[in-house]
Amino acid sequence: MSEHGVDGLNSIERLDKEHVFGTWAFQSEVTPTEIVDADGVRFTDADGQSFIDFSGQLMCSNLGHSATKVSDAIAEQAEDVPYVAPNYTTEARARLGEKLAEVTPGDLSKTFFSTSGTEAVEAAIKIAKFYTGKDKIVSRYRSYHGATYGSISVTGDPRRLASEPSMPGAIKAPDPYAYGSTLDPMESLEYIDEMLMLEGDTVAAILVEPIVGSNGILVPPDEYLPRLKEIAHDHGALLICDEVMAGFGRTGEWFGSDVYDVTPDIMTMAKGLTGAYQPLGATIVTPEIAAHFEDNMLTHGHTYAGHPVACAAGLAAIETYQEENLIERASEIGEYLGERIDGLAADHPSVGETRGVGLFRGIELTKSTEERVPFGAREDKVSKGSTVVDEVSSTAYEHGTYVANMINTLIIAPPLTITEDEIDEAIEALDVALEVSDDAMDA
Ligand SMILES: Cc1ncc(COP(=O)(O)O)c(C=O)c1O
Repeated sequence: MSEHGVDGLNSIERLDKEHVFGTWAFQSEVTPTEIVDADGVRFTDADGQSFIDFSGQLMCSNLGHSATKVSDAIAEQAEDVPYVAPNYTTEARARLGEKLAEVTPGDLSKTFFSTSGTEAVEAAIKIAKFYTGKDKIVSRYRSYHGATYGSISVTGDPRRLASEPSMPGAIKAPDPYAYGSTLDPMESLEYIDEMLMLEGDTVAAILVEPIVGSNGILVPPDEYLPRLKEIAHDHGALLICDEVMAGFGRTGEWFGSDVYDVTPDIMTMAKGLTGAYQPLGATIVTPEIAAHFEDNMLTHGHTYAGHPVACAAGLAAIETYQEENLIERASEIGEYLGERIDGLAADHPSVGETRGVGLFRGIELTKSTEERVPFGAREDKVSKGSTVVDEVSSTAYEHGTYVANMINTLIIAPPLTITEDEIDEAIEALDVALEVSDDAMDA
């Protein structure tokens, strides 16, 4: 048991608060919690309290916290060849490139490696611009694509606002969000068609999360993504699918694009690519796009592009998904998770809508069932203080379950290894936590 001071922090947490910036935060509100152990789907703080990881940390710990094949591969690679410059290769990098060509849809076959989701998106934006010779990227308002300049420019959620003015050519479109938007999802698509027509032949790519993650787990109708690809191609633009959160089994398929049988022209990945055991991003393209760069320079690169230790982790992670049949497992146990969440919806009037597929689920809360008034507004994401939705998450935490939330939706994305008993335990905590939002509803 660690000693806590009057500020509630132990000595490590206090050191951290003093010397390390918290992310996306007013620093006065940052209260770091020291984590000392993680095992299976649980993690443990310095006081010995353990929590079910019902959101896989930042929707990235797809393999849970005990994937020994991955940790062993990391140790082995760090001993053999910890680093070489990207102009060299290693077996890990070459084999991971081959593996990604195998598990991604269609003929996607050549990868640029980076170290994060945002870098994967930056590479996708640049490749699309270089390949098409056009400047504009159409993305959507309810989206998150990363924190660096290009990626935050194409991000639609309020985290983008502080970084504006955006990259020139970053244009926003409406979203497939039947519950909370006045536009029907399929109408919103035709709006995008018209946008591209009106922009003339200047749009390099449409960039979307196939299933929107942190902006509320928005699952489009089945016909949406195929039609979006058609619209992009009709206007000479590429389709980029950002699979940073939806990828690697989360949806019960390898990728969110697979749910809709769509092969994008460019796909971005990170998070589940290594199960979060190492920082690794990847941007994979079709052979036609790859061929363009045979005689046109790929003016892009990083010191850590194709880092051997990260690639070894990626390869071992994909082998783990395959050997343990985790993608199929996510689909099966995801059904159970969906049923349990729908059970919560039936018992709690503050649950406005439940959405999701596989182990990628959202619970959107409402103050008023009829009028669908949200507890959390978009601007709350960048303002001080906590919302009712934050209080629901913190009550679940007090009851042993970590669940992330964004704006007005609880984001449920546990490791693909979670069992029915562990789901039951987490649902019990949510059952108590949702009383907070039930009590806060409009009379
Ligand atoms: C869809 C999507 N794209 C990109 C990113 C950025 O990834 P990173 O935080 O690794 O830069 C995220 C992060 O949550 C994401 O969800």
